[in-house]
This record gives sequence, C-alpha cells and structure tokens, in this order.
Amino acid sequence: MYSDKVMDHFNNPRNMGEIENPDAVGQVGNPVCGDIMKIYLKIKDNKIEDIKFKTFGCGAAIATSSMVTEMAKGKDLEEALKISNKMVAEKLDGLPSEKLHCSNLAADALQDAINDYLNEKDKENNVSEESNA
Ligand code: FES
Repeated sequence: MYSDKVMDHFNNPRNMGEIENPDAVGQVGNPVCGDIMKIYLKIKDNKIEDIKFKTFGCGAAIATSSMVTEMAKGKDLEEALKISNKMVAEKLDGLPSEKLHCSNLAADALQDAINDYLNEKDKENNVSEESNA
C-alpha cells in the first residue's frame, strides 16, 4: 500500500538530524495524531544551503520529511515557500488516503522555518533602519 518511493525514503531518510547553529528552525505538531516534526535550515544568499529534519512520527511522516528536505535543498526561499503538502505527497507517488494527513507536517514545518527566518530578518532590518534614523 506504500509506494516504492515512500519505502525508500522511510528506510533511507535523507538529511535526517540536526544542524548546529541553524539560521532558522520550524516546528509543527500534527493535530490529528500528535506527531511532531522539526526542520533546521542553513541559509546563504537567500538560498537553502543545508536542511535537516527530526520527526517524531510514523513512517509516512518520516518519508515526507525526507522528501521535503530533498525538494527544498538548494532552492531560494521564495521557491521553497511554494512547496505544498500535496506536492510532497505527489513526489512520493502518493500516500494511502488514511495517511494523507501525515504529509501535512513536512511542508508546514518547512514554511514555519522559512517564515521564522524572514521574520527575524525583518526585525533586524527595522532595528538597523531605526538606528540609521
Ligand atoms: Fe502522525 Fe502519520 S500518524 S504523522
């Protein structure tokens, strides 16, 4: 019932772990099952230079986490923000319908991390604008 791609990413998750001194961290919990996913980003020149994940969840959540890191690595932030839960599930050749909710974590955690970074940057810009004033 799982595609070969799901099984592959579950058995050999890509980019699993933590980044020391990340530029941004995103975390989401799945309200359906209580599982949690965390994404760490290293960002350089507006691009995702490195990305890692930690997922406390089911096999489908681990596979979608792994896939979203592959999809996002090397992308600029605007492009990465466009990655949707549906795109991640499609890249994995689909998920069983009762496991579709598991794919919600991956793109949401990525977006949470990127927004965290952009918000921090906004704050920094505001502070330097104020100090320039
Ligand atoms: Fe919780 Fe899949 S059962 S993410």
